[in-house]
Order: sequence, then structure tokens, then C-alpha cells
Amino acid sequence: MTTPVSVSFHATDLPAIEEAPGRIAVVVPEGGRLGQAARRVNRLTRGAVARAVASDRFAKLKDGQVLSLGFPVGLAAEAVDILRLPRRPDVDTARKGGAALARAAAGAETLVLADVTRRVAELALGFVLRGYAFTDHKTADDKTRGAVSFMGNEPEAAQAAWQSVSPLAEGIFLTRDLVSEPANVLTTTEFATRLEGLRDLGVEVEVLEEAALQELGMGALLCVGRGSSSPSKVVVMRWNGAGDDSAPLALIGKGVVFDTGGISLKPSLGMESMTMDMGGAGTVAGTIHALARRGARANVVGLVGLIENMPSGDAVRPGDVITSMKGDTVEVINTDAEGRLVLCDVMWYAQTRFKPAAMVDLATLTGACIVALGHENAAVFSNDDDLADGFLKAAGAEAEGAWRMPMGQAYDDLMKSTVADVKNSGGRAAGSITAAQFLRRFVQDGVPWVHLDIAGVAHVSRDLPLSPKGATGWGVLALNRLVADRFEKG
Ligand code: BES
Ligand code: MN
Ligand code: ZN
Repeated sequence: MTTPVSVSFHATDLPAIEEAPGRIAVVVPEGGRLGQAARRVNRLTRGAVARAVASDRFAKLKDGQVLSLGFPVGLAAEAVDILRLPRRPDVDTARKGGAALARAAAGAETLVLADVTRRVAELALGFVLRGYAFTDHKTADDKTRGAVSFMGNEPEAAQAAWQSVSPLAEGIFLTRDLVSEPANVLTTTEFATRLEGLRDLGVEVEVLEEAALQELGMGALLCVGRGSSSPSKVVVMRWNGAGDDSAPLALIGKGVVFDTGGISLKPSLGMESMTMDMGGAGTVAGTIHALARRGARANVVGLVGLIENMPSGDAVRPGDVITSMKGDTVEVINTDAEGRLVLCDVMWYAQTRFKPAAMVDLATLTGACIVALGHENAAVFSNDDDLADGFLKAAGAEAEGAWRMPMGQAYDDLMKSTVADVKNSGGRAAGSITAAQFLRRFVQDGVPWVHLDIAGVAHVSRDLPLSPKGATGWGVLALNRLVADRFEKG
């Protein structure tokens, strides 16, 4: 797993500044008042910091943005990064500020002089998240990434806050690694093996193999993997942090390690991106990792369906009718609408076995979701306003884009089949909503449920404030907060 850069917190040590290697960052609020450490840097650089801060360019910065001075006189450091940030930044601005420093650092060791700035641990989280790089398959890349240290007023308090924040960074890194990994490496078997690694954190991990899935009657899930030589699996990850046997929150993830479309083969242009089609499962894994690492006092069970969607002489065909674990028959109109076939059986199993207090599923489910919301927001579908609001609030607090979408009978009618109980594709119109309607048929009465279509947000092709282009880890922060807000004991 990609390990986050090392983070440390220290009391301000003015004499150490002059010889500090790498880069030095100073945190300066709007208006340009320099703190004690920033004044020392200014004196050593013969006034360069004060000049920069008095400049037009600093005046035009927004909170969380950086102005860099290269090879300053008077310092061993190769650069001084001036971060504009209020003394008491909100969480999001602090993270973005830390991220801007990581971008400027590009892997160099950095000493951040935070002076009296608050939320230093959130600055650190932003730095760590933006510093992510997936270099496992780069032979020449220099993989060493410089540490970041923070000097400030209350290093013990910052360190204590970091204890509860760093598990989130680890969880997000796990998700990003899984989503970044190519499908020849992250086979269903390799995926299951990596999830078994969560046992080290106290998570109970069970791997259900094809014979067991057959026994359970998961005809919908199994038909998707029939064309692949990689065996289909369901992995169950139980984090029992509540200390009792109260009903868990169930997190369900679509883990299609590669989606060719099957017999309804996708066009070749861009097909390589379907290596990210296990993003839902990756997010569930990252969330469970984060919850376990921070010792969340909640019962949460993660279930992921791991399969590969390939064409072959054994593959499911358009027109086939299969039987789900629930017993409902499904007409497979399009073998590329495979995610819902996987999810419906895993959801049914989760409810039958665990009687969850609530259920959230995540899936890179539809291209239509990207047409509707782009890469800014995941689509949120729900049968329960209270749970949906709880999720939207959590996502908002973590600055993870999420937007509620409508559901209703008229959309459900589009999924009626002439030969079976339901069909797996309702055509182009409202494609992400009809997919959600399909899933809803597999939600048992009384179970509050949220479906998150993360097709647009799990992997994006441009840099974001808190992640370099590629896998984002979207959802780990929001789900962690949802657990803290709604499912954790005080
Ligand atoms: N994995 C895709 C959805 C997807 C598309 C995710 C682009 C991320 C980026 C999914 O399995 C799929 O192929 N959906 C079809 C459904 C259709 C056949 C009803 C789609 O969206 O075209
Ligand atoms: Mn597909
Ligand atoms: Zn898919």
C-alpha cells in the first residue's frame, strides 16, 4: 500500500529555520501580519517575505493558495512557500491550504511554520492527501517522498488531533491504490487477498467463493463473472466497534475489477478506464480501514462483490433470464448493465444475514450519472429522507460533492420485462435513475437505504484540490462522518 508521507509536529524552534533543508512554508493571514517564525524567515531572507506579502500577487491570493519564492538568500531551503490562510481556518480551507503546499513541494521535504494557526492537523491531512502518487508500476520513479513537519504553538494538541485524522488518510490511500491498480494485477483473487489484510486491524474478513455463492442462489451476481477466468467472490468485512451486537450499518460495494461490457462489448476507445469499475468496493474497503484504524465505536459491515465482466463462450448473453438470490427473475437486456446484477445479490445477502440498521451501496454504476452530474457530484438515491439528509450533510461537511436524485413509479415502470420480473436496462432515458429503481426492488421493507452512483467521482482525469488526477477516494470521508454522526456511540 502507498504509505502517506511522514508527518510530525514540533514546538517552534527559531534557530532551526536557517539550516532547514527542502522547502519552508510560512502561513500568513489576509492583511499580511507575520507571526514570530515568519518574521524570522523574513529577517533571514532580508525582507523577501514582507515584500512578497505586500505585493499585488499576495493580495490576489485566495485563502488556501500559495505564493512561492525560489532559492531565497539567507536560507538553506530551496524555496519559501507563503500560504495565505486565516488564523482560524475552516476544515476545508485548512485541508486545501495543506494540499497547496504539497503541490508546491512536489515530493520535497517541507517544514511548515504554522505559528499560531489553528487546525494544523487538517493542514497536514491536506498535505498528505495531495501528496499521493501511485508509483507501484514506475520502474524509474524516485519513490522517496520528503517528510512534512509542522512547527507551531501547540504541537501536542496538533499531534493528538492527527491521531484521529491520519486513519482517514490511510483509508483514502487504500481506496486510491485499489482503484489505480490495473486489472491484470488486481484480479478478484488479489483483491480478496488485499482485503484479508484488514484482519491486521481487527476486522473479521470472510471470503465467499463461487460454490458458496451458488449455494446461496446468487444467480444475478454469478452470471456476470461467467465469461471470466477469474473466480467471482463476495468478501465480508465486519468491524464490530460498538462493543455490543446492535444492528450494523451495511456498506455494499460494486467490485467489477474490469468491465468490458461482456457480450454487449464496449467500444475500445477509453475501455482501459474500466479498470476503475471496482471503485465502490474500493471505497467500502477504505472506509472500513479508516473506521478500524481510528477504533470507531460502531458496528459496520462491508460487503463487496468481486467479479470481472468478460465476453466468452460461457458468458451471459443479452436475452438470458437469470434468477437472483431474492428469487426475482431478471431479463438481461444488456450485459454491460452488470453492476446492478452484482449489487442486487450482495444487497439481498447483506439484509438477510445481518438485518442492518441501514444500508449504503456504492457503485460506478452508470455513464448516465456522468452525463447528469459530471465529475463534481455523486448521485444520491434513497428510500429514506432522514438517512439521505444525514449522508448529504456528512458529504457537505467533508466537501465531497453529492446531489440527491429523484425516484418514482414512472421510472420503475421503465424496468418492466415481458418475459421476467424485471429487466436490467431501461434504455437511455434517466439511465442512472432506472438503475437505482432496479436496486430498490432488492431493498427489504423498513431498511433505510442510500445508493451512491460514483461513476463520475471515483476517478477523474484532472487534478483536484485534494487529489492528483486519477483515483480520488471520494466517499471515505463522508461515510466516516456519517458513521460518526449517526451510528457511533458517544
Ligand atoms: N461501469 C459502467 C458505468 C461507467 C461508465 C462507470 C463510465 C464509469 C465511467 C457500467 O457497468 C455500465 O456499463 N453501464 C451502462 C449501463 C447501460 C448499459 C444500461 C452505461 O452506463 O452505459
Ligand atoms: Mn458495464
Ligand atoms: Zn460496470
